[in-house]
Amino acid sequence: MTTRYEALRTELQAQPRTWLVTGCAGFIGSNLLESLLALGQTVVGLDDFSTGYQHNLDEVQARVDPAQWARFRFIEGDIRNLDTCRQAVVGVRHVLHQAALGSVPRSLVDPLTTNAVNVGGQLNMLVAARDAQVQSFVYAASSSTYGDHPGLPKVEDHIGKPLSPYAVTKYVNELYAEVFARAYDFQTVGLRYFNVFGQRQDPDGAYAAVIPKWVAAMILDQDVVINGDGETSRDFCYIDNVVQANLLASLAGPEGRNQVYNVAFNARTSLNQLFDLLRDTLARNQVVYTRAPRHGDFRAGDVRHSQADVGKAGDLLGYRPQFSIQQGLDIAMPWYIQFLR
Ligand SMILES: NC(=O)c1ccc[n+]([C@@H]2O[C@H](COP(=O)([O-])OP(=O)(O)OC[C@H]3O[C@@H](n4cnc5c(N)ncnc54)[C@H](O)[C@@H]3O)[C@@H](O)[C@H]2O)c1
Repeated sequence: MTTRYEALRTELQAQPRTWLVTGCAGFIGSNLLESLLALGQTVVGLDDFSTGYQHNLDEVQARVDPAQWARFRFIEGDIRNLDTCRQAVVGVRHVLHQAALGSVPRSLVDPLTTNAVNVGGQLNMLVAARDAQVQSFVYAASSSTYGDHPGLPKVEDHIGKPLSPYAVTKYVNELYAEVFARAYDFQTVGLRYFNVFGQRQDPDGAYAAVIPKWVAAMILDQDVVINGDGETSRDFCYIDNVVQANLLASLAGPEGRNQVYNVAFNARTSLNQLFDLLRDTLARNQVVYTRAPRHGDFRAGDVRHSQADVGKAGDLLGYRPQFSIQQGLDIAMPWYIQFLR
């Protein structure tokens, strides 16, 4: 049976459209860019390289054919500048707004910049996209919005109090999106990503996500530090599931718009289990890691357990996550080994 996602890809290939991907030089944005170009779409990309890289764009260029790459136009600019946002949406039909400063710890160190980019920048994008009358506006929300709510699995309507400035900004994104629907009849879709991983996720720096950080440590034969007892758990979501959710959300009918959805796989993996999975997957790729993990302090602002109910995205968007954590790691690991060696 053809899934809605397969049907949508066929439709896009037959009738290409123009997209804007903000944050296109980052991890998720560059994967969206690659998938859209591979489907023959025209893409405008906006990024200021604050946490993204030219080498991500270079890699996308190497992975698509020259005719596909020719349909990409890059704007180096900052979403905190409204004129830049207005320039980026000209002629665009679908917006995938990914640009933001991620990381809970970064937001604790510098809440002002996180707020300016994540809240001010998104508001600029909403205003620019509303005025340009784009057909769809999909934005990156976050599982951090569940905050201290103890329920598992997480259901969209039940959130707790935010645990970090980052979580506040991502919740404010949802509030602005809702108000734009109410006040201006500008419909959006928010995707609450749960711990996304895959190719081009940055392994460097103080704010690296756990999977690339640990994989890098293992490949370079350094110690892996687990924050806390290791029983903290996450719903790790492979990047291709996220690409699927973005495309489905962009072409959603009226029943699917003006909503927020969990985007995850719907499984829970503890950090201790993750350590074993990464070590074993590396071993299957001829990288042997023999050190035992070290345990450090719990990290401030972290949610203890996370697992998504993805039923709403399944019902209203036709979202069917295709890659489990193990399947995703099997695909991503050779990329990390090549990138880090
Ligand atoms: N990776 C995850 O697990 C995860 C989970 C939940 C939500 N998210 C959200 O998904 C989105 C993408 O995250 P990512 O993991 O790809 O991060 P990333 O840091 O790799 O990508 C973000 C991109 O946005 C760009 N950017 C930042 N500030 C900008 C500005 N002022 N103007 C223009 N561009 C700017 C960066 O240079 C970077 O290329 C973010 O909104 C993030 O909050 C990610």
